[in-house]
Amino acid sequence: MTVAVLNSYSGADALSIEQRPVPKPGKNEVLVKVAFSPLNPSDLATLEGHYGFKNPTPIVPGGEGSGEVVAAGPGMMASYFNGKRVACAGWGTGGGVWSEYVVKSVKGGVLPLNKSLPLEQGAMSIINPQTASSFIAIAKEGGHKAIALTAAASSLGQMVNKLGRSEGVQIINVVRREAQVDFLKAQGAEIVLNSSEAGFEQELHDACHQNNTHLAFDAVAGPLTGKLLKAMPENSKVTVFSALSREAIQASPGLMIFENKAIDSFWLGPYISNQSVLKTMRLWKRAQKQIPNHLKSNIRKIYPLHEVKEAIRDYRSQMTGGKILLRMS
Ligand SMILES: NC(=O)c1ccc[n+]([C@@H]2O[C@H](COP(=O)([O-])OP(=O)(O)OC[C@H]3O[C@@H](n4cnc5c(N)ncnc54)[C@H](OP(=O)(O)O)[C@@H]3O)[C@@H](O)[C@H]2O)c1
Repeated sequence: MTVAVLNSYSGADALSIEQRPVPKPGKNEVLVKVAFSPLNPSDLATLEGHYGFKNPTPIVPGGEGSGEVVAAGPGMMASYFNGKRVACAGWGTGGGVWSEYVVKSVKGGVLPLNKSLPLEQGAMSIINPQTASSFIAIAKEGGHKAIALTAAASSLGQMVNKLGRSEGVQIINVVRREAQVDFLKAQGAEIVLNSSEAGFEQELHDACHQNNTHLAFDAVAGPLTGKLLKAMPENSKVTVFSALSREAIQASPGLMIFENKAIDSFWLGPYISNQSVLKTMRLWKRAQKQIPNHLKSNIRKIYPLHEVKEAIRDYRSQMTGGKILLRMS
């Protein structure tokens, strides 16, 4: 089988395409013939050694994908999955999914796809849809009628906006370019602020106070985290869930000491692991139904696996406006 291998944590240049034998599933494991896998910011961070998993190289990257179970090891759950179309996670048993075949544990490594869902969308049904659903669930559980969100023109940001509108949560969107303001407004977003504009901090302050916004989800980090914290009223919180700026969080301690503001974090894996199995399955089934509308990802281009380096270059050059997928065979 053809596999993309990362030989050191030094970026896309350290990727090579190799041929390896197809692995065999063990007890409670299945063999998935992988169809598609998206390029996500977490994959770029993985290539550079900045992500939360850092196994010794060489590793096979690829944080999520879709495919069909073509063989099952011993175990009832493994037999249940045999022949089914699945989404597969790129962590745990078997590692990443930038590979023609991958072995996955039936305990969290594969999830059944809705019959009507194309494998292209199925490949993007774990990370962003589950995160968008979680953000709106966290907002609603905390009684928040409005939340702020950075890198809001991302695929995830578009999902949070659509879901927020359908569930009555106002989104204060923060983007970094004027074209992204127009892009989100054309999709129906009401409040979109450009962090590169003069006057941004005042506009953010006004929007947060007018909408009684005490919760922000921040994908950028660096100085932006501190700006969000400053803009919101007392007793607010910024939840940092990525570091697209690759900068350390910068925030004035006085905001935390004297205004009772806080910074915490969100990572999907541990968040899901801390929910009950029932709640996780409910989230999954609900998200599967919502993928054709609120949780759909636009696709910009599909590359064959052996063109992974070119695909990454293309993705880096234009992250807004649709996902790049890898096709495994
Ligand atoms: N913690 C978690 O569990 C979790 C789960 C899901 C997603 N995420 C995070 O959510 C974010 C969005 O993911 P996605 O897949 O939806 O992304 P995506 O569709 O690939 O889009 C990435 C977006 O980030 C913007 N961006 C890149 N660098 C930036 C910077 N330094 N400052 C501001 N904006 C920047 C891009 O804008 P340009 O076009 O201007 O470059 C683009 O709009 C990522 O950071 C990802 O890691 C985290």
